[in-house]
Amino acid sequence: MNGLAALFLAALLSPGAVRTAAVLPPGFPEPRVPAGNPMSPDKVELGRRLFYDRRLSGNGTQSCASCHAQGRAFTDGRPRAIGSTGATHPRAAMSLANAAYAASLTWSDPSVRGLEEQAIVPLNNEHPVEMGARHHEKEILARLRAEPVYRELFPRAFPAEPEPITLANARRAIASFERTLVSGDSPYDRFVWRDDPTAISESARRGMALFFSEKLACGSCHGGLAFAGPAVWRGGPATAPRLVNNGIAGAGRFKIPTLRNVAATAPYMHDGRYATLDEVLDHYARGGDRNPERSKLVRGFELTPEEKCDVVAFLESLTDEEFLRNPALGDPWNESAPPPGPLPPGEGGYGRKRTGKPRVIGGVLAAP
Ligand code: HEC
Ligand code: HEC
Repeated sequence: MNGLAALFLAALLSPGAVRTAAVLPPGFPEPRVPAGNPMSPDKVELGRRLFYDRRLSGNGTQSCASCHAQGRAFTDGRPRAIGSTGATHPRAAMSLANAAYAASLTWSDPSVRGLEEQAIVPLNNEHPVEMGARHHEKEILARLRAEPVYRELFPRAFPAEPEPITLANARRAIASFERTLVSGDSPYDRFVWRDDPTAISESARRGMALFFSEKLACGSCHGGLAFAGPAVWRGGPATAPRLVNNGIAGAGRFKIPTLRNVAATAPYMHDGRYATLDEVLDHYARGGDRNPERSKLVRGFELTPEEKCDVVAFLESLTDEEFLRNPALGDPWNESAPPPGPLPPGEGGYGRKRTGKPRVIGGVLAAP
């Protein structure tokens, strides 16, 4: 941790600390934190270690980050994920950007609401095997207990417990780290929240108007701060999850995924069927595939080639470079590794130079 980060964390930890706007991006409310798992900087740091630790999988080959890579906004670049034993998952790995605000987690199960309980799934899933931790619990605990970093961090993260190194606590810590994966510092945000008229191109601005227009109706589904389905936050209403069919053949209803950082999360849809944003737009332009469950909001439209470029430029303006490269969200076991390489330059300001200033969101998350 560098000096600046240490300073911020110390400030946040001191009693009655003044909450600072450096912590959450403008406009973002405080995420919900379950009463049984309060956040602390130690717990977030522990969670980050665990998130990037392959020793958590049965055969020691896969960590959460194997399928949720920072440079891809915590996705894996594959149409469908591949588990630690080589099994193909029926669906694509999802971005974890702003997962703390999602009314439900995973593509199609509205009953999964908490990050703590969600983490059990990749660890223990047997159909298909993801991390393959089931039946290897003793081995995994022995590996964690043998690690000096954990012998120090678990007791600091769970101070009241006589034997803090447990898998339940590992999941609690991972969930706390996931709550810091807040993305809201894209060129779009600088344009809208920081009144920087030069943050996005003319083309991206035209694309924004189209995105929110009645004709395209993208914003009717991909809404709110995360450009996703319904959000929940601390003190906010108990919004119900929403699953819809956007014209994907074979029917079924799916969570409305976030479009933040979407330029970095190809391929697209729950089965990775589209390689590019152009193909996604073609899908919506033709009204998707006919199927009985298709939402009435997906009805097709015509766009000129220039307008299509404009919408893509707008989608590219949702890329938060800081989020994709902030070392505070990266692999703590390998801090000397270079950060993920630059993304190809695009219209919407995507590919801009990063500020180099690490954003500190460990510990207590606070609204500005
Ligand atoms: C083998 C690849 C793989 C590994 C390893 C993996 N995930 Fe995932 N993750 C996925 C896939 C695939 C989905 C979508 C699952 C579905 O809908 O059935 C997903 C979905 C999620 C979601 C839901 C996001 C949302 O917005 O709804 C969260 C949270 C998540 N994973 C966290 C984790 C954590 C924490 C770990 C480590 C304990 C982990 N994942 C390990 C592939 C993986
Ligand atoms: C009826 C609600 C709805 C509307 C309207 C809608 N979407 Fe979607 N969108 C979804 C759902 C649901 C998915 C996930 C479907 C799946 O994976 O099978 C999705 C997926 C996507 C994806 C892929 C994201 C990823 O991570 O894989 C992109 C990109 C996207 N939509 C962009 C748009 C754009 C641009 C528009 C407007 C032209 C739009 N959407 C209109 C509901 C909608």
